Amino acid sequence: MSRKLRVGLIGAGWPSWQQMKGYQRIEGVEVAALCDRDPKRLQAIADEYNVPNRYTAYEEMLEKERLDAVSVCSPNALHAEMSMKAMKKGAHVLCEKPMASSSKMAREMVKVSKATNRILMIGYQRRHGNDAQYIKRQISRGRLGDIYFVRAYWVRRCGIPGLGGWFTNKKLSGGGALIDIGVHVLDLGLWFMGYPDVRELTSSWGSKFGTKGLGAMAGNWRAAKKKGAFDVDDYAVAHMTFGKGRSLILQATWATHIKQDEMNIEIWGEKGGARLNPTEIFTTEDGVLETIAPRLRDRWPFEPQMEHFVQCIRRNKKPLSPAEEGVKTVEIIERIYAAAT
Ligand SMILES: NC(=O)c1ccc[n+]([C@@H]2O[C@H](COP(=O)([O-])OP(=O)(O)OC[C@H]3O[C@@H](n4cnc5c(N)ncnc54)[C@H](O)[C@@H]3O)[C@@H](O)[C@H]2O)c1
Repeated sequence: MSRKLRVGLIGAGWPSWQQMKGYQRIEGVEVAALCDRDPKRLQAIADEYNVPNRYTAYEEMLEKERLDAVSVCSPNALHAEMSMKAMKKGAHVLCEKPMASSSKMAREMVKVSKATNRILMIGYQRRHGNDAQYIKRQISRGRLGDIYFVRAYWVRRCGIPGLGGWFTNKKLSGGGALIDIGVHVLDLGLWFMGYPDVRELTSSWGSKFGTKGLGAMAGNWRAAKKKGAFDVDDYAVAHMTFGKGRSLILQATWATHIKQDEMNIEIWGEKGGARLNPTEIFTTEDGVLETIAPRLRDRWPFEPQMEHFVQCIRRNKKPLSPAEEGVKTVEIIERIYAAAT
């Protein structure tokens, strides 16, 4: 039998726990090391999953461990540097979304991936869900025909993450609701459309609650009042066109006056339409309007995501969410911030 694949993770927040669970289920994979600069967070997850080697400095981890793969689960602004160093040390990288906090850094990452011949996969775990996979299959089989419009949205009534921490600090995050949750649905929408190039783009974004409070809407408003603790968007809306009458509308907000949180993708195709959540296909058959509601097995997407990453390494395959598409989403996000009116 071939030797075990040695994996290390950087960052011990929520996605790290999810990825860890996924890795631990894969035969022939050993989570050899974990790094977090916060010793308490490091210990909590390392104890839970019996990770033998623990570090508070990631360079030391890369230096001492001979890792085949590294998951980068740190704050956004650190993704690029950590991923590039890991690839230069010979590891394949699964980098959390967004790939980087700037497109310049994202393009650098692709260059390093090519120069080192290491896989650089982006953690768009939602692509691996049974719902997204089902819709993608219907599209690939031509069931929806040409897709001419997508509405992609993730809206929260009251959900600013880590207010006062790195999520709400532009230097560390690269942006707010748009780059945090908007990036997931932007990626899914573009993926369903075949990642066309954006021609025209208009947008608006801003902060209505993060800086002003409004009690329950903003969560820990005291933290936000610290100087520089909140300098990002808490909402963003964009309309982008791709030529030939095709377009996508994106909506992302961490907090606004709506009934409930919702994450969805709505697709209009010439032969049929679809909705991600709940998953449905809308079409016509023999002159009759048909709605198809498949009974999909509920599968937590981190599990197939981790399996896929490991398979890509073992079989030298291109990942389902390649870095080149990660670059495109970061470029679009920058255009949205730049174009806002
Ligand atoms: N794929 C998903 O569904 C998903 C969900 C949530 C977050 N994320 C992404 O994962 C990343 C981390 O988010 P999070 O929610 O875990 O944030 P978090 O703040 O909870 O965790 C980040 C961890 O990184 C550690 N860290 C910071 N600087 C470090 C350094 N220099 N060296 C080592 N460790 C360091 C922090 O101590 C912290 O424990 C972000 O990029 C976020 O966008 C992805």
